Amino acid sequence: MMEWTDRHCRFFHRLLTRRARLYTEMITAGAVLHGDRARLLTIDPAEHPVALQLGGCNPQQLAQCAAIAADFGYDEINLNVGCPSDRVQQGRFGACLMREPRLVGDCVAAMRAKVKVPVTVKCRIGIDDQDPEEALETFACAVERAGVCTLIVHARKAWLAGLSPRANRDVPPLDYDRVYRLKAAHPRLAIVLNGGIADLNEAATHLDRVDGVMMGRAAYQEPWRLLDVDRVLFAQCAPFASPAAAAQALIPYIERELARGTRLNAITRHVLGLFRGVPGARVFRRHLATEAVNPGAGIATFRAALAIVAQRDTRLVHTAAA
Ligand SMILES: Cc1cc2nc3c(=O)[nH]c(=O)nc-3n(C[C@H](O)[C@H](O)[C@H](O)COP(=O)(O)O)c2cc1C
Repeated sequence: MMEWTDRHCRFFHRLLTRRARLYTEMITAGAVLHGDRARLLTIDPAEHPVALQLGGCNPQQLAQCAAIAADFGYDEINLNVGCPSDRVQQGRFGACLMREPRLVGDCVAAMRAKVKVPVTVKCRIGIDDQDPEEALETFACAVERAGVCTLIVHARKAWLAGLSPRANRDVPPLDYDRVYRLKAAHPRLAIVLNGGIADLNEAATHLDRVDGVMMGRAAYQEPWRLLDVDRVLFAQCAPFASPAAAAQALIPYIERELARGTRLNAITRHVLGLFRGVPGARVFRRHLATEAVNPGAGIATFRAALAIVAQRDTRLVHTAAA
């Protein structure tokens, strides 16, 4: 998610779940080819499994980007066919590619020819006046023919004229049944459902009908939910017994990054929702939001914020998650 799932966020989320697959922000093919590649693409070994999401529509360029990304160690290359922003539309990529399934197939085939890791696509159920029944079926057939093994479907249309990207994440209605029908019609294509999944119980319910779920805002805004992913969805132990223990484990990473010149807030902004629902959470959040932005703010600021919630009973978080 743009501006959200940067490398600091992903490192933090990986402390909370060993098993969930993490996705980068969308990075355009132009940025990969002409930008500061090391800054854009470097991943920490701890992040795996991690997927790079690319934006673009030129098969040769995307193929080159996929090869570069594979060299950086990504476990999956994902093509964005869901972003509705004007800038992206002007570049003829993102959600508007729902109208060009053959081109998307060409992009995917070119990328697949260059890398061994899976190439996947994230799309909508349709755009504008498209009939989702027909549009999604045509699109899925095209990408499946091109060798895509996994299709992530944001279960609502994108309305490209007149709705902001933000509104396009809430206003067009969700249609989970359309995604379930897609799965039934494509038993060999792994279908991952995205959109409006609020908690792990909902996620588990969808998993009866599709192969995977992708959580966006709920995972980012309330990262404590991720601490239950391994137990609830993978029948494995949680990496830490509590959000507070996970936060403590982030300290060496923060210290390392501060020593490299990273500002405290660049990391701690992703942690603000970790204690949501626990007494003291609001003070924790406010303390970090106001103090961590100060130039020169150091690890003591983070420790002080943790001390605010450490006095409380963070087991409440697990009660809320259950
Ligand atoms: C701040 C923000 C940035 C996003 N950036 C991307 C992006 O770069 N690529 C993408 O495929 N989706 C992006 N999305 C959309 C989410 O991945 C997801 O499809 C959408 O929020 C619906 O899922 P949710 O209800 O679980 O959040 C973004 C969403 C938000 C809130």
